[in-house]
Amino acid sequence: MQPFLDGLRQLLGPADLLTDPADMAPYLTDWRRMFSGPALAILRPGSTEQVSAAVGLCAQHGVAIVPQGGNTGLAGGATPQGRAPQVVLSLARMTAIGTPDPIGMVIEAQAGCILQRVKEVAADCGRQLPISLAAEGSATVGGVIATNAGGVNVLRYGMARDFVLGLEVVLPDGTVVKGLKPLRKDNAGFDWKHLFIGSEGAFGIVTAAVLRLTPATRHRSVALLSVQDLPAAIRLLGLFQDRIGETLSAFELISADAIRLVETQCGLGAPVSGGSWFLLVEAASSLDGLPAAVQATLEAAYEAGLLQDGTLAASEQQAQSLWALREHVTEAESRCGKSLKHDVSLPLRRMGAFLESIQARLAGLAPAARLNIFGHLGDGNLHVNVILGDTPLSIASRITGMVHDLVAEAGGSISAEHGLGQYRLADWQRLTLKTERDLAIDIKRAMDPKGLMNPGKAVPGTSHRQ
Ligand code: FAD
Ligand code: MLT
Ligand code: ZN
Repeated sequence: MQPFLDGLRQLLGPADLLTDPADMAPYLTDWRRMFSGPALAILRPGSTEQVSAAVGLCAQHGVAIVPQGGNTGLAGGATPQGRAPQVVLSLARMTAIGTPDPIGMVIEAQAGCILQRVKEVAADCGRQLPISLAAEGSATVGGVIATNAGGVNVLRYGMARDFVLGLEVVLPDGTVVKGLKPLRKDNAGFDWKHLFIGSEGAFGIVTAAVLRLTPATRHRSVALLSVQDLPAAIRLLGLFQDRIGETLSAFELISADAIRLVETQCGLGAPVSGGSWFLLVEAASSLDGLPAAVQATLEAAYEAGLLQDGTLAASEQQAQSLWALREHVTEAESRCGKSLKHDVSLPLRRMGAFLESIQARLAGLAPAARLNIFGHLGDGNLHVNVILGDTPLSIASRITGMVHDLVAEAGGSISAEHGLGQYRLADWQRLTLKTERDLAIDIKRAMDPKGLMNPGKAVPGTSHRQ
């Protein structure tokens, strides 16, 4: 491999080809320390041309590539898996952001840009990029696109896919495909960019994107509410949909246990009591009259007996501290030791029975474990995470298998927004129709005939095609 590494060093310069184990270590483990794997080197290209040349060298030498953005992913997609010769290719140095077009409502950004920074640049010209997640201070544009990230605003604005107008990608042989069009309408042939969105780096590397912006909303109302049970939460969602319709921009569910965890682990306090479930509800609009409409909806909810307690933020500062409770759930969970992520979506009407079955089965399978349930109820996506406590790691796959079996029985998805990565790939193979699996493998073979792009993630290897 020496000629290969020498070629890369010449291309990238010694500072951006890391081979020292201590320098490589942060790139070889995910932030939760659930996954780790070996690599020959870490590549840190600074331009699309360098990505293309580096990928070309890897193809020549038969070396696999693991693309990496902010390494905030929750499915082990950005961590090497298996023992094939492989490198991690970090996009972290590619951080250029173009001047936004406020009337055309578009912005161009390189793959390594931090999502929050792009949002700030959009906000400076009175527009918004409403892809919102607690990891936005570290997640990158490339990673968000490669995972088709969701987040808290999906019920109103859709997933990352809905914001991508144009893409620039590097194919597994090093070819650059420049598709950075700022067009909202473009039916001129097959829309290839969708192959890359949500493909978790299995088909190529995203190097830049043109993203759609939306008008900034001038007013927002944020409330933290508590309800007795899940049916009340779902009825409340219906009430908000009826009364404030398209202005509803977040409807997040947080279990009382998850709120307790945030309080004890992160030192935050919830100004609302009672109930088994909390809801973080946000509405936003550019038109006047929103606060009165939200207030009237809350009064109707109290009258209908749906609410136990609640508070409506009276200032932007209060709104932010209510949001902080929701945004700290993942951190609070990670402070409790190892946990298993279950990122499920299912029809709302199946949610209650599904959660009851999980509670009952988990008590039998892993009595020392506890559930940490929260998520994006407004779009049918819950994070049914399991904090392991003293449960042996050896039964982790049985717990996850049990949850995923119940999801499949309820007609849901085992990955609503985080992707398969290496974590869910085996269960996806087990629970997905053969025709669907084979189609994914056939597309992978066509896109990446040597199987060098992010092996062991997102798509089964070609040997699984029967
Ligand atoms: P990475 O973790 O580096 O990579 C993720 C995947 O994308 C890997 O498969 C990697 O190989 C691939 N990839 C990365 N960059 C590229 C590229 N340029 N080209 C091709 N492939 C690439 N996710 C949600 O969807 N919704 C949430 O609400 C949410 N909340 C989160 C909250 C917290 C606190 C944390 C830590 C994570 C959360 N996530 C959430 C998960 C994660 O932040 C997202 O998946 C994010 O999109 C990953 O971006 P990243 O740059 O960190 O990608
Ligand atoms: C979130 O919504 O906060 C994350 O996607 C969920 C998680 O950390 O499990
Ligand atoms: Zn989420």
